[in-house]
Amino acid sequence: MVRAVAIQRFGNPDGMALVEIAAPEPEAGQVVIAIEAIGVGGDFVELSGGVSSVDAVALGGPVPVAHFALQHAHFKTGDTVLVRGAAGSIGIAAVEIAARGGAGAVAVTTLSAQWGERLRALGATEVLDRSGKGDAAYDLIIDIVGGPDLPDFIDRLAPNGRLMDGIVLTP
Ligand SMILES: NC(=O)c1ccc[n+]([C@@H]2O[C@H](COP(=O)([O-])OP(=O)(O)OC[C@H]3O[C@@H](n4cnc5c(N)ncnc54)[C@H](OP(=O)(O)O)[C@@H]3O)[C@@H](O)[C@H]2O)c1
Repeated sequence: MVRAVAIQRFGNPDGMALVEIAAPEPEAGQVVIAIEAIGVGGDFVELSGGVSSVDAVALGGPVPVAHFALQHAHFKTGDTVLVRGAAGSIGIAAVEIAARGGAGAVAVTTLSAQWGERLRALGATEVLDRSGKGDAAYDLIIDIVGGPDLPDFIDRLAPNGRLMDGIVLTP
């Protein structure tokens, strides 16, 4: 027998259950892969002394999105970056990648003062409310939120700035 996570009811995570099922038997041309850890989403990881398998699986979804958003926007050392919707999984990853990549500044939007502090600990240099209003203009905006307020953020770009809408990105 092996353990499996079964989706017994669609909706919130309560619909998933850890169950025991018969160990799969590979047929011709198939292999059975031993799984060390699996994940269904992501949150932030305190990235010192290596990453455990359990933490690493949580990075598979949001980190590539953040990475490719920055890459497609030609992020380079010294760029000033605004991450809109930074308290979600993609935003957190974008903040960490930009900060560790030598961004000149990393501003974030969040409704939550607590999240603002957590994002500062991960490399954010300025915490803004959801409007993103402030005096600065940014070389790069990673917009996780989109929607009707998107044009307001285009106005926050510096000359030759780039805005990426992370939601529509597929790595
Ligand atoms: N394309 C892909 O491959 C891919 C992969 C993963 C996820 N996604 C999508 O990307 C989106 C973001 O996912 P996520 O997990 O990073 O984040 P999320 O938790 O869905 O949202 C990010 C943050 O946006 C802020 N926010 C939410 N509604 C807002 C609003 N109306 N106005 C302004 N800010 C708002 C919230 O922060 P505050 O409350 O702190 O302001 C929230 O923490 C989702 O739609 C998800 O489905 C796409």
